[in-house]
Amino acid sequence: MKDLLRTEDLSRDDIELLLATSADFAENPLRADTALRNKSVAIYMTKPSTRTRLASETAVAHLGGTPIFIRGDELQLGRGETIADTARIMSGYCDAIIIRTFAQSDVDELGKFATVPVINGLTDTDHPTQLLADWVTIRENFGSDISGRKFVYLGDGNNMAHAWLIMGAILGAHVVAATPSGKFAPDAAVIARAQEIAKTSGATIEVTADPESAAKGASVLYTDVWMSMGDPEAERKEKFAALTPFAINDRLMSLTADDSIFMHCLPAHRGEEVEASVIDGPQSVIWREAFHRRTTIQALLYHLTRGEIKGR
Ligand code: CP
Ligand code: NVA
Repeated sequence: MKDLLRTEDLSRDDIELLLATSADFAENPLRADTALRNKSVAIYMTKPSTRTRLASETAVAHLGGTPIFIRGDELQLGRGETIADTARIMSGYCDAIIIRTFAQSDVDELGKFATVPVINGLTDTDHPTQLLADWVTIRENFGSDISGRKFVYLGDGNNMAHAWLIMGAILGAHVVAATPSGKFAPDAAVIARAQEIAKTSGATIEVTADPESAAKGASVLYTDVWMSMGDPEAERKEKFAALTPFAINDRLMSLTADDSIFMHCLPAHRGEEVEASVIDGPQSVIWREAFHRRTTIQALLYHLTRGEIKGR
């Protein structure tokens, strides 16, 4: 597999390899510090980023390469040059491309025309690199035997909810998305895809509009901002009203398993999707989770540029 365009592109073996290598990079960030020697990685983003940008730049640096960060408005792409032409040009200078943008179809197009690996650093519908960091963190807390455990995402049925369902499906986990029904639920096609994958992986996929039954006995409660980058501001009031019952607070945490943890991809809005007492409390693993954004992107760059990711 040349690229990581979607979470569903990864096989279970790919994920196992990436998680193991990430753990190695967590211990020794410089264990492959010549892997990208004399090589460059373009990091092109049309949306803001703190973690994905810094994690990507430091991951490239730790592999001995040069990161080239490009903002959305800095390329001729904004003036009508095509994605296909941009892909061909970037492939002539760089050894991999990380892209964060709105439409998934733009990322797919870049992957199609680039001859070097393209990595999805978030789109409106997916966030594969985040899920790798999440699962390294989950493994650190619970080990690899996840039988009997329930992994619950609460909130907006957005890119994170999608990636959460798909990654859990591939890994054979019991994953839950608790979201309002209707407009703010995950895409039906993504739910169907997760269920399809679950048939062979042994995963259990649950989508519910009941936050309390979801939280009951859960090992992980996960949430994300209620207004994602690019969401229409005009929807804010309606959206917050629909999402309020899904906010993670101490009461919801008290329904979870004894050893449960709280996770969040960040950035967080305390007092909206999560109370400060939870995100800053003893069950929160958000800093370790954010740390693993670098170790997992480093692992991904390492294996993709060596042609070691097989895909599904
Ligand atoms: N979690 C995440 O993708 O963070 P950034 O938007 O800061 O990159
Ligand atoms: N759903 C959020 C995730 C940020 C990492 C967004 O797309 O803005």
